[in-house]
Amino acid sequence: MRKNVFIYTYGCQMNVHDSEKMIGVLSEGGYTAVGSPGEADLIIFNTCAIRAKAEQKFFSQLGRIKSLKNKNKNLKIAVAGCVAQETKRGIFKRAPYVDLVFGPQNIGALNTLLEQNKHLFVEENPDLAENEFSTARDSSLRAWVSVMYGCNNFCSYCIVPYTRGKEISRPSSSVLAEIRDLHGRGYKEVTLLGQNVNSYRSDMNFPGLLRQIGAIGIDRVRFMTSHPRDMSPELVEAIAELPNVCEHMHLPLQSGSDRILHLMNRGYTLSDYHRKIDILRERVPGIAITGDIIVGFPGETEADYQLTLDAIRDIEYDGLFAFMYSKREGTSAYSLDNQLSEPEKTERLNNLLKIQEEITERKNSLLDGTVIEVLIEGLAENDAAFLSGRSRTNKVVILPDGGERSGEIVNVGITRTRMHSLEGIRTDRKITRSSS
Ligand code: SAH
Ligand code: SF4
Ligand code: F3S
Repeated sequence: MRKNVFIYTYGCQMNVHDSEKMIGVLSEGGYTAVGSPGEADLIIFNTCAIRAKAEQKFFSQLGRIKSLKNKNKNLKIAVAGCVAQETKRGIFKRAPYVDLVFGPQNIGALNTLLEQNKHLFVEENPDLAENEFSTARDSSLRAWVSVMYGCNNFCSYCIVPYTRGKEISRPSSSVLAEIRDLHGRGYKEVTLLGQNVNSYRSDMNFPGLLRQIGAIGIDRVRFMTSHPRDMSPELVEAIAELPNVCEHMHLPLQSGSDRILHLMNRGYTLSDYHRKIDILRERVPGIAITGDIIVGFPGETEADYQLTLDAIRDIEYDGLFAFMYSKREGTSAYSLDNQLSEPEKTERLNNLLKIQEEITERKNSLLDGTVIEVLIEGLAENDAAFLSGRSRTNKVVILPDGGERSGEIVNVGITRTRMHSLEGIRTDRKITRSSS
């Protein structure tokens, strides 16, 4: 008998991709993915524990779903992802109606866990890097590809090393086979996923892997996330030389204060970071750089915060993700004194975001009049007369629908720029060199 599954996904791209793997695995066990929890025989929460807010969002949704159990006695509720791994048995204390709790390393065992009516499975999986998943992908153009799992960095604020386990790299042969297959099936873009792709190690390092992937010939290759400490000159050369590797680097800074960076256990200084992006910008003209910032780390003074603002003014990110520090149990920063109050953190965040908004707008406005390459993804969200796509620098580009198909790569002359998107028209003119 076929059964239906619905997944709530929270958190980062890794979770988005893990949900695709879960659907793929479950479809081999007789499940079909459906669009609403009401139709489901199995509801999975693929959770995120990075900040308290993400965790709260999941728990309140979990509470709301309880009533569905009264309507459908056979409904199973499962909790997966980082909160599952972190809280383990504790999930049942908060929500006794949950049937199964399993960790990010246990996706391959999902059908067995369900058949055996297991309640808890959060074991370390030593074979994770060798596991192959049949993946039900959301898109037929752009694909996520895991290159490594886990994280060994133990940044003092971060829960990920505890939820995702120790760092392991997938064998290059399986990464390459997956990408060859995607290319053969018409995919145009892959995004390589890992918490710190620069520490990829198999029979080759990450730049080596990029070169092999480049040779496959898929149009666009992206990767995330890079750790500034491990971003090597060799990687910069690979990006500069390989035509398929997109001109975009997400390089989280976290703070502009060396004192705070040290307390965060990040392993670099602001000037190290500046040096790295100077080289990147020199070798890869027009590269877009995005970053992450945490405001309100314990003990962050007004002076530390001002250093962060100075840094973002100097760096001029194309886009920035900024977060208020959130205390995570089990991390080494958890017990630090001098926690900032919520209002203080909110004020610092809002003020920083305002500064960055102006920078993002200004950077985008520099693209007015240039010609950039756009991969068409489909109809624009708000206006069916327009198509939407992305530049190589990962900016959203809107253009009038001229009958282009999804997956087509076209040149677009930019005629208008906004904070979150660019607008333009298709053109035969050549790409503007060193545009970002
Ligand atoms: N592995 C990636 C990032 C993973 S988490 C990296 O190292 O860059 C994504 C972002 O969430 C981090 O870059 C950081 O800015 C933020 N983050 C992580 N833990 C946090 C916490 N406890 N409070 C607030 N933000 C946090
Ligand atoms: Fe967390 Fe640091 Fe690992 Fe990123 S590198 S996942 S911030 S511990
Ligand atoms: Fe990702 Fe959240 Fe886990 S950001 S790795 S899903 S804690």
